[in-house]
Formats: sequence, structure tokens, C-alpha cells
Amino acid sequence: MCGIVGIVGRSPVAPLIVDALKRLEYRGYDSAGVATISEGQLGRRRAEGKLVNLERKIIDDPLAGNIGIGHTRWATHGVPNETNAHPHFSENVAIVHNGIIENFAELRATLIADGYVFSSQTDTEVVAHLISRELASGLAPVEAAHSALLKLQGAFALAIMFRGDEDMIVAARNGPPLAVGYGDGEMYLGSDAIALAPFTNAITYLEDGDWAIVRHGGVEIFDLEGNRVERRRQQSIGTSYMVDKGNYRHFMEKEIYEQPEVISHSLAHYLDFANGTARKLDAPFDFAKIDRLAIAACGTAYLAGMIGKYWFERLARLPVDIDVASEFRYREMPLSSNDGALFISQSGETADTLASLRYCRQQGLKIGAVVNVRESTIARESDGTFPTLAGPEIGVASTKAFTCQLAVLASLAVRAAAERGHIDAERERELVRELSETPKLANHALKLAPQIEKLARELAHVKHVLYLGRDTSYPLALEGALKLKEISYIHAEGYAAGELKHGPIALIDENMPVVVIAPYDHIFEKTVSNMQEVAARGGKIILITDAKGAAHSTVATLDTIIVPDAPDIAAPIIYALPLQMLAYYTAVFMGTDVDQPRNLAKSVTVE
Ligand code: F6R
Repeated sequence: MCGIVGIVGRSPVAPLIVDALKRLEYRGYDSAGVATISEGQLGRRRAEGKLVNLERKIIDDPLAGNIGIGHTRWATHGVPNETNAHPHFSENVAIVHNGIIENFAELRATLIADGYVFSSQTDTEVVAHLISRELASGLAPVEAAHSALLKLQGAFALAIMFRGDEDMIVAARNGPPLAVGYGDGEMYLGSDAIALAPFTNAITYLEDGDWAIVRHGGVEIFDLEGNRVERRRQQSIGTSYMVDKGNYRHFMEKEIYEQPEVISHSLAHYLDFANGTARKLDAPFDFAKIDRLAIAACGTAYLAGMIGKYWFERLARLPVDIDVASEFRYREMPLSSNDGALFISQSGETADTLASLRYCRQQGLKIGAVVNVRESTIARESDGTFPTLAGPEIGVASTKAFTCQLAVLASLAVRAAAERGHIDAERERELVRELSETPKLANHALKLAPQIEKLARELAHVKHVLYLGRDTSYPLALEGALKLKEISYIHAEGYAAGELKHGPIALIDENMPVVVIAPYDHIFEKTVSNMQEVAARGGKIILITDAKGAAHSTVATLDTIIVPDAPDIAAPIIYALPLQMLAYYTAVFMGTDVDQPRNLAKSVTVE
């Protein structure tokens, strides 16, 4: 979380840094700040809340200087106010930080004992004072920074400037990503390639433990021991994307509407529609040979993995263990070298998912990753990647990345089924044809927007919503509830429909809307029984089904949303769309900040 930008430039950098921070605001938006050096002196502007507040401040009170660092914050230590906003200063040092300094309390105590006065509650200020103390002990700036780095525990990406030096930013990475960008007589730093896209597409990612001296003329990179190291310079693909809402009100709306296209790109990467086959892939593990697949991911990506489990087990008879990554990394699950490990992540930077990946690496497993950001740490540390071709997802609530993850997992399940000999060529052709219909069906599902918008107007007045589903509709129920709560702040819970009578049924009364996801499939009748149980207790049912389901349902509903008939394998992708739209329009009626809901960030690089 948190976004970092740095520029060692030849013209005033403050407006450029604000511009770059706009592209990083998805990483956090609790506060923002910029510091520069002009005529040898450090200056800064900081503001609570969105970047626009900082932008206004800088317009009213411009900040001179051709070198600077900037930050957009997702609060970890200390409330999100201006005092806790970065950059933090200590005498001659200015610093921005992404991550968590785990030993900050003990460092803070020793610094206070040495007379350092803290003005914020952040862990970051500790690093600034630590460097000051090293400087005071007689070390030169670079040595002081290096010496301080050796005392830090935890995860960090840092950019550090020194009063009086207009030709140097010291950068360091241990965990969260940090990229160095190369310009013409100028150099840049950024949390990702998208931030640097307006300046350059020639970048180098620092590796864990690296620190660097960035000057006008270039960069020198060192490992933690201080040895000079070479890191690959690469062309970023981030630049090719315009991060723009177009005519849509929100990025989330735009991303919902992009789904037919990006699902189609993702499927085409894995499926040969002309021959009716799932493409042979340069996979990190051999689907035919592994005994089990261990999947770990967080949030919506985890729910995509849960749906993947149904596909891999049903089609390919491949046992799948799926965990939320924050549990996986600590639960000491027995793993064998005959297992494959698969990590799913839009950003490719999620700290718990990355830690789970590294755990599997230590256990000797081959590692695959379904990622949207191809240059991300998870992508780079995997033995092979399965890219989702969703394009940049800016709305904090995941939509198109989720359905593209599903498209990739479904395609991989077909491939695995063929390789493991559980489907013949004819069945493979049929599954590929069924999946090829997904973009068209998704397009039709989007036409439900007016009906869903009307329903959302009513939902915006309720306090709680239950979501129910069976089979692959169960993870979808969890996803529908997650989407609603994160952007509308309405409390929502998802349950396996069969679990209803084991507890949650106690919540049902006439004030409780219950969204039921029920395609007309092999367990439709079972779900209808659960709807009866809800109806008998006065619950208001919103049924999401297809035409056959609507015709066969005997239960009165508050509303029935009829989704286009979809083959079983495509259904979870298609049913995700009305759930996203329901959450989106409800949030719009509630007047929440849809793209940047409170307390959240797009890229979660702390545990
Ligand atoms: C919810 C959402 C989050 C992410 C989760 C994992 O809409 O977007 O739950 O899915 O934080 O993020 P990635 O996929 O970047 O690892």
C-alpha cells in the first residue's frame, strides 16, 4: 500500500510528482505529500485526504525545486491526518515510506532517549531520525542511510533526500516494489511502472534487500552488504495503457463494461477456438503429473480460486487445496514436491500471497501465478505465469480482474482435464465452444443494468443483506457480499445455501433481503428449497437465475433478475456481472466513494 514517487530532475518537480501520484492513488488515499529541495533547503506540502487536497495546496502555495519525493498514504501507524502524512523530516533528512517497520517501537524508544522529538505517530519518522543520528555520528549521507537500513526490520520501500544535495535520492526496497526510471538527464523512482509511465518506460525494479543511489546521471544499485549489483533494465508495458475514465462516472463502472472484451482477450490467450482445444502451455508444472494443486490468494482473487477448485476437481479430477494466503503462510500445511502451487493476484504485490509463494518455494514446489500485472513481484518470482489480460484495474473493488481470473482458471481446468485424460477431444471441443460464448453472454448480461439500478435504489435503504448460492454460486455469493459491503458499507454476508438452516436463518425477517444466485442446474431444486425457507420467514428474495430457473421457481420474489442462459462452465463468469452491478448502483445511490472506498487500497503490500 502507499505510493512513492521521486524525481531527480532539471525543472520544477512538484507538479510532476503530484501527477505521478495520481496514478498511484489506488495504493492509498488517506493523505498525500511532496517534499523538494530548493536552494539547498527542504520544503514540503502535505494534506489529509485525497490527492486533490494536496494539489490545491500546491497551487495556492507552490513548491520550488528540481528534486523531490512524493507519497500517497494508506495509514498503518497513526491516524490519517496531515501530521502523519509523508514526507517526514528529521533535521537534514526527508523520507517517504511504503510498508511497516516492525521494530519501530524499540527504535523509537532509543531515539527518544537520545533526545529526538517525534512529531508524528508513524513508524516512518523513526527511519528519518535514525538516519539523522547516523549523520550526527559523523557518517556521510549515503553511509548514514545504509547504516540505518541495516537496523530496520519489516517491509519497506523508501526514498530519502538530504538537505543541501540536489543531485541524490537514496532508495531502498525490502518487500514492497520500487522501480527506478531512466530519463534524459533525469531519473525517477516509483512504486510501479504506471506511476512512471508519463516520464519513461525504461525501468529497473529493485530486488529485495537492494538499495540505490539515484542521481541525474544514472543509478548505482547495491545489495544489503553494500556490494555493487547489476539489475536488468527493461521496457515497461505500463506506458501503453491510458488510465482514464472515459465517459463513465467511475472506473468501476468502466471496468464492469470492459468485461466482454477483456474476458475475450483472456480466453483467446488460452484457448484455440478454431481447433476447439485448450492451448498447450509453457506451464510451471505438468498438470498430468501433479497429485494436487495448492492455491492461495486474498479477497476476491481467493474467491476466484474457490470457483477454480470446483472446475479443477470436477473436470480434471485434480484435488485442490485452497486457502486465504494470510492463513496459508502460517498453517504449515504438508506439501510434497508432487504438488503444484498456484497463486492468484491482480496486483501481483499482495504481501500475504507473496509470502505464501515464498513459503512454497522453500518447500521445493513449482510455482505458477495468475496475475494481471505482468511485471509484478509475484509474476517475477513464479516459475511460470498465467496472465489475465484485463488491463489496468483502477477501481479498488475488483471486477474485470475477477472475471478474467475465472476465464483463465476455467481454461486451465480444461487443459488439465485434457492432459490428465479425463475428457476426450469431443468434450474438450464442447467446453472450449461453451467458454467462447462467454463474452457474448457477458454483453447480454450488461443489458440488465436498468433493472438492477432500479433494484439498487431499494437496497440502498437496508442495513444487512444475505447472499446465498450452491456449488460455484457459493463463492459467488461470498463475492457478491464482499462487493456490496466494500463499496456501499452495507453489511452483507455470503453463505452456502445449504448452511442457511445451521445458523444464519435466525437473521431472516421481513427486513432482510436475500440475494439468491441459482442458475437452472443440477442443484437448482435444492436452492429452491432454501428459498422456501427464507420466504416462510418473511425474507425478501432477490433471485438471480436464467429463464428456465425463473420458470421453475415456485417462490415469490422481491425481484427476479434473468441472466442469459449460460453453459455450466461459463455461468460463474456471467453471474458475477449482475452482482457487481448491484453493488455498484447501490453504492452510487448511497453516495459513497465508489472507486476509492474508505479504509481500502488497491494493492495490499502489508500483512
Ligand atoms: C475486493 C478486492 C480485494 C482483492 C485482494 C487481493 O474487491 O479487490 O479483495 O482481491 O486485496 O488483491 P490482489 O488480487 O491484487 O492480490
